[in-house]
Amino acid sequence: MYPAQLHLFATPEALARAFAAELAREIATGRPLHLALSGGSTPQRLFQLLAAAEEPLDWTAVHLYWGDERCVAPDHGESNYGVTRKLLLDRIDIPAANVHRIRGEAPPAEAAQNYGDLLRQALPTNDGVPVFDWILLGMGSDGHTASIFPHQMELLRAEGPCALAVHPDSGQRRVSLTGPVLNAARRVSFLITGASKRAVFTKILHRQNEWETYPTAHIQPSGQLEFYLDQFVLHEGEEK
Ligand code: 6PG
Repeated sequence: MYPAQLHLFATPEALARAFAAELAREIATGRPLHLALSGGSTPQRLFQLLAAAEEPLDWTAVHLYWGDERCVAPDHGESNYGVTRKLLLDRIDIPAANVHRIRGEAPPAEAAQNYGDLLRQALPTNDGVPVFDWILLGMGSDGHTASIFPHQMELLRAEGPCALAVHPDSGQRRVSLTGPVLNAARRVSFLITGASKRAVFTKILHRQNEWETYPTAHIQPSGQLEFYLDQFVLHEGEEK
């Protein structure tokens, strides 16, 4: 198993609460934080918990970015930014200038180029690669992360910080952070829940048969790597 910290929880709710507390602790320090959020369904409960924090958090030093975005308008139901705005951004006091969305409504290649330029200006760089303080990622049941899918493994080694990706089933175009940016981060946290992720995650964790074919397996940041998992990802057993 490659070096990573595993945090195991009985339920997705317990996982979301624990991660929300961890993130809130960092935000409470007041240190500048450049944080990239993941899309999909897993982080939605996290967003709700952060929005409902008992002690409202001081977001003024936090800059939010996205690990990937679907090439749709920001108010489209599939927009990762749109979901975050509904569940979190509209409910917290964060300076608009701190929210850096990927412009899903723009021509995809242009959106990817522009976001890469934004990252190069907004973030410190290491050998020309933008360095995030913290990146939150999910994993699909096919082992993809951000929008790096198994049929586009070249995005793990792409030149620029952002690239145009395509969903293998729907053909939906996406903008995604690329492997070098993900691996340059000071901290990468995967939030993975559900039995549907178990088969692939087990191969990745134990470097078993064909593990190299899954993009998630290639996220080995120079900084801290951790997995927040519910029990169904690791063990047999029916989800309630
Ligand atoms: C996206 C995400 C994607 C997601 C995984 C897991 O835009 O869909 O960034 O990488 O994290 O597909 O999605 P779920 O959390 O819905 O299982």
